[in-house]
Amino acid sequence: MKSNITKVVIIGAGAVGATTAYSLVVKGIAAEVVLVDINKEKAQGEVWDIQHSIDFQNRNVRIKVGDYKECGDADIVVITASAPMDGETNRLMMLEKTATIIRNIIPPVMESGFDGIFVVVSNPVDVMAYLVKELSGLPKNRVIGTGTILETARLKQKIGEIMGMDPSSIDACVLGEHGDTMMIPWSHVRAGGKNFLEILSDNRDMLQEVDIDSIVQQTKRAGYYVLKSKGNTQYGIAGAVTGIVAAILGNENKLYAVSAYLEGEYGIEGIYLGVPAILNRDGIKDIGVFNLNEEEKEQLIHSADIIRNSIERL
Ligand code: LAC
Repeated sequence: MKSNITKVVIIGAGAVGATTAYSLVVKGIAAEVVLVDINKEKAQGEVWDIQHSIDFQNRNVRIKVGDYKECGDADIVVITASAPMDGETNRLMMLEKTATIIRNIIPPVMESGFDGIFVVVSNPVDVMAYLVKELSGLPKNRVIGTGTILETARLKQKIGEIMGMDPSSIDACVLGEHGDTMMIPWSHVRAGGKNFLEILSDNRDMLQEVDIDSIVQQTKRAGYYVLKSKGNTQYGIAGAVTGIVAAILGNENKLYAVSAYLEGEYGIEGIYLGVPAILNRDGIKDIGVFNLNEEEKEQLIHSADIIRNSIERL
């Protein structure tokens, strides 16, 4: 039974889950944060460590270790649980291992009486969001995958670097798979309100070394570069989850590129894919449909086909 205390349960106390818990505490977005992990000692250590930071935060967020029963009155359940990578070079290669974990998590969460919103992080996230929706039986608007929110942040950061602008002054949404087939609809990318490609063509001398293909590759591979350097990613994805949780609990009607269930948008249906979506207290309120050019449509359909083929492997 829901109380009026905003509560977020995070399943998985690894680097992503623990950093997300800390980020929620630092920003004071939820009154209560619960960390759940099969390794209870690890979860307890993360909770104690975060509790030792409370005195320096703006809000006395209650953070504790829990089990799946804690989901019964939670507003949001964030799923970060995943198996250790073992030589996989592509998020889709984690499918079987992660699907097994998800299949073990969702039944006890639903048995708790959970009736809130899932935010799915576990990779391959588009496929796992689909699996969570199928297993939970929750409506599509209440199962959200983090999707291409990260690629979008990485693209905005890169263009901001090129333009000498704050990433928040860059308007962009990466679409498609959270992975190698993601696509950038350049016709809808603006810096300071002006189409980015027009900026490049109007300023050839100044920006002659800017290579669009290189920006695409850097956006696509950013997660791998971090993984190769430090063994995992955590801060980007934790920031993204925190933004999504804030948009939901704050009823913000905020637009993010997230993995949403499509029923005909972009001519695609029956899968989860990264698209612009308005997020509020009900989860996904609406999906934005860009007018893509032919090349962009082809790229997005290709990405959708890759996800559909992967879903068929479940
Ligand atoms: C990344 C992980 C979350 O791209 O897939 O950082």
